[in-house]
Amino acid sequence: MLELKKKTAEILSEIADAEYGKGLLTKEELLGMLEYPPDSNMGDLALPCFRLSKKLRRSPVEIASSLEKKINCAQFKSVKAEGGYLNFKLDGTEFAKRVIADVNRLGDKYGSPMCGEGKTVVIDYSSPNVAKPFHIGHLGTTVIGHSLKLIHEFAGYKCIGINYLGDWGTQFGKLIVAYKLWGDKEKVEAGGVDELVRLYVKINNAIKDEEDESLKQNGDGEHAGKKHSELADKSRMEFNKLETGDEENLKLWRWFVDVSLKEYQKTYKLLGIEFDSYKGESFYTDKMPAQVQLLRDKGLLEIDDGASIVNLEKYNMPVCLILKSDGSTLYPTRDIAAAVYRQNEYKFDKAIYVTSAAQSLHFAQWFKVVELMGYDWYDRLVHVPYGTVSINGSKLATRTGNVILLKDLFNEAISRVYDIAKEKNKDEEECRKIAEKVGVGAVIFYYLYNNRMRDINFVMEEALSFDGNTGPYAQYTYARASSILEKAEDSAQMTDAQLGDLESELAKVISLFPEKVISALSDYEPSVITRYIIELCTAFNRFYHECKIANCEDEKLRRSRLALTAAAKQVLGKALNLICMQSPDKI
Ligand code: ARG
Repeated sequence: MLELKKKTAEILSEIADAEYGKGLLTKEELLGMLEYPPDSNMGDLALPCFRLSKKLRRSPVEIASSLEKKINCAQFKSVKAEGGYLNFKLDGTEFAKRVIADVNRLGDKYGSPMCGEGKTVVIDYSSPNVAKPFHIGHLGTTVIGHSLKLIHEFAGYKCIGINYLGDWGTQFGKLIVAYKLWGDKEKVEAGGVDELVRLYVKINNAIKDEEDESLKQNGDGEHAGKKHSELADKSRMEFNKLETGDEENLKLWRWFVDVSLKEYQKTYKLLGIEFDSYKGESFYTDKMPAQVQLLRDKGLLEIDDGASIVNLEKYNMPVCLILKSDGSTLYPTRDIAAAVYRQNEYKFDKAIYVTSAAQSLHFAQWFKVVELMGYDWYDRLVHVPYGTVSINGSKLATRTGNVILLKDLFNEAISRVYDIAKEKNKDEEECRKIAEKVGVGAVIFYYLYNNRMRDINFVMEEALSFDGNTGPYAQYTYARASSILEKAEDSAQMTDAQLGDLESELAKVISLFPEKVISALSDYEPSVITRYIIELCTAFNRFYHECKIANCEDEKLRRSRLALTAAAKQVLGKALNLICMQSPDKI
């Protein structure tokens, strides 16, 4: 459809050049104005002339009818001016033939804009903090991030997926103290992150208790309002030891990171995610001083209450903290050093960071600092934010340990699908496989269905439902197409049989795939694909319910319908794949 749209815009702009003066209406402008009428009885494509009225000093009706008179467009069956619109109608059969020919010619590449050839994108996503829960707040960064990686790959980019592990920071001081006090090697080995989180939560609570106690003790005397905790002091000391290379602490730290990583990888495996790099925050420790020095040399650093900052007042942002008063580095410092490293290492054309919208200011700030430092690639940095997730209406409470873990969310979905599958299907192994694909897919689909900035309330029953705009529904549709083709794929071939409305409607939806990919890519918005999947499934299911396919008596029609089914299946499979979902042939 995109090609057709482009061609139409070109023809229209030629007419406009002759009719209204050269260059008055560019083909790009016209391309942006061409739209799909909500009801295809009105047409398959339309140019609303209202917006042109001012520019051309004529009424929309006049514009539409003069364009209608001049246009000669072989691609359409008819072009009609109707109430200020220029409506284009396709010959459904001819169009379907062209679409299916494109799908067959391009195969797995059908829909790819191929705009990334020779370009590199690094995508920083998922990036959990070691020893803190990997919870549903990370669902967004993990699946939006991976989907964006897949979409970029599909567009021909070379993609580097980076898991920027939160593997450094004062929490390790706390964890070391907690482990030395209450920890147990076997328990950590068996319990993994959960056990680390338990220790972390325990020490946080203990610190808080000590602080509260000290507040009470200090009463309203001269130390009023001052809190103190020995455990907090100890934690700072242990972290300091770690930073200065203490062997014992380094060993513990490495172990904590390994244990955590192993567990995250289980979730990644479930989602089919592999990272190209796990270089986390710790990796940049020795790369920060050079950047701090550069900031100093450029006169960008100011001292504020002992801390080193970059003043961003001119850009309407609060100061960006580079060094604390004790000289320790901060989150932005590390991000700057990491970006410089990645540019040197990968020469990226784009560096994408997927995090919750709560971090938007952080990214805006250090992106600005990178610009001020004079790095000419500052404008290749892209922050992709997303909204919050709650489950059945309840928000997350970190630190208290009262959070919903990502693995639990997926496991819950898997076990519910398993129970349903078990009722219908005897084979244990098969049930497990299906439950995994459908359960995981349901969660992903439900999440990626919404515009990423929207705050989402997760309702498992809705996600798992087979009817409605869900993952199971989409996968079921895919399996349906597969089973039709199973015995008849060989005969799938477009013939000159006359097609009806449902068939051409399906072809039309298939033809929209390329422009959906472009829009998902340029808006960093996987939900465009998710919604498209529903559009495609709806068109396919209508066609399926109304038309005989494999058992159609008319052989030519049968072949064409099978060809349509095969194309729908292919595009649906690809679209599912772009949002990190599997497409099982059987459900
Ligand atoms: N570890 C951070 C968190 O969980 C996210 C890191 C995002 N990436 C980055 N380069 N800052 O909040």
